[in-house]
Amino acid sequence: KAPGIAIVGATGAVGQTLVELIGTRGLRHRGVRLAASARSAGRRIEVDGRTRTVEDLEGFDFSGTDIAFFSAGTSVSQKYARPAAAQGALVIDNTNAFRMDPDTPLVVPQVNADVLTGRPASGIIANPNCSTIPLVRLLRTVEQRWGIRQVVVSTYQAASGQGEHGIAELREGAELVLHEPGAELPADRFGKPLAFNVVPFIDRLLETGFTMEEQKMLQESRKILGLPHLDVTTTCVRVPVVNSHSEAVWVEATEPVDRAELVARLAELPEVTVHDRDTLGAYPTPLTAGEPDHVHVGRVRVAPHNPRGFWLWLVADNLRIGAALNAVQIAETVLDRGLL
Ligand code: A2P
Repeated sequence: KAPGIAIVGATGAVGQTLVELIGTRGLRHRGVRLAASARSAGRRIEVDGRTRTVEDLEGFDFSGTDIAFFSAGTSVSQKYARPAAAQGALVIDNTNAFRMDPDTPLVVPQVNADVLTGRPASGIIANPNCSTIPLVRLLRTVEQRWGIRQVVVSTYQAASGQGEHGIAELREGAELVLHEPGAELPADRFGKPLAFNVVPFIDRLLETGFTMEEQKMLQESRKILGLPHLDVTTTCVRVPVVNSHSEAVWVEATEPVDRAELVARLAELPEVTVHDRDTLGAYPTPLTAGEPDHVHVGRVRVAPHNPRGFWLWLVADNLRIGAALNAVQIAETVLDRGLL
């Protein structure tokens, strides 16, 4: 029978995208319940043509819920996801809380749907980091055809990765720069002011000098691709873009790479658009990429001095591809395979 669904964090940036996608993708369900903090309890939100009332997560009963999407932050997942799973819900968690837990599969359906064979031991399926997802969607085919020695990535991450408050702080800062030059800019969400700036620091600092965001991209890529020694090294940067992350990716393969074949293989991947297929050097940007449910690739170039190495540029909607869409595609896979 159709599953009962709950969305935890339904009022947030990812939660609202989940609400939209559940309607537009026609995810089968027998009802959708919405949860958020006490601040939002009682708010009314339309889901799939019906108005639903947001409930307080505190005291929320998951016993009638088959699939619970969690996107209310890591600390909320740490506190509430295991109890929800214990009440019988299959949790699809968008946060960092369980991604490296050995009992929790970390899934990008286009890459490793095969790890979904039944209900996971933890009752939780983790959704990877928003920058990891589009990257691994491209790396699998490269690894299989040419082998990978090393991947070097710089990310250009949008404000929406910090949720509605992140978007609001970018807008507020931009207003101030334009209309009150010299005013002190807000810097609560990104550590430094983001408007008309770039900030090479996301999440917290680790003892290695890398940030947690940078470490996530390494560890998660290894787990999803099943390559425990894969060498991925990253600098994660926040840029004053409202939505959609970009990444400049250098791959050093083990074998020499033919550009035309690389472009053809990337273009064959599901839900990937390669912009320089016909026009050398063409490229997507966050504002112009087009189809929001595709990973967009451009600037594919093999280095003349090192034919094993190539660069590409990618753009992917972090709220959709990097979060809500991947989560819904996990749910679709679970339902298609009768794994509930
Ligand atoms: P609320 O709107 O009631 O604060 P975003 O990432 O856009 O900031 O959204 C975060 C989401 O997580 C929102 O839906 C927010 O609800 C929810 N949330 C934050 N803290 C809690 C909490 N302690 N309990 C339940 N939901 C929470």
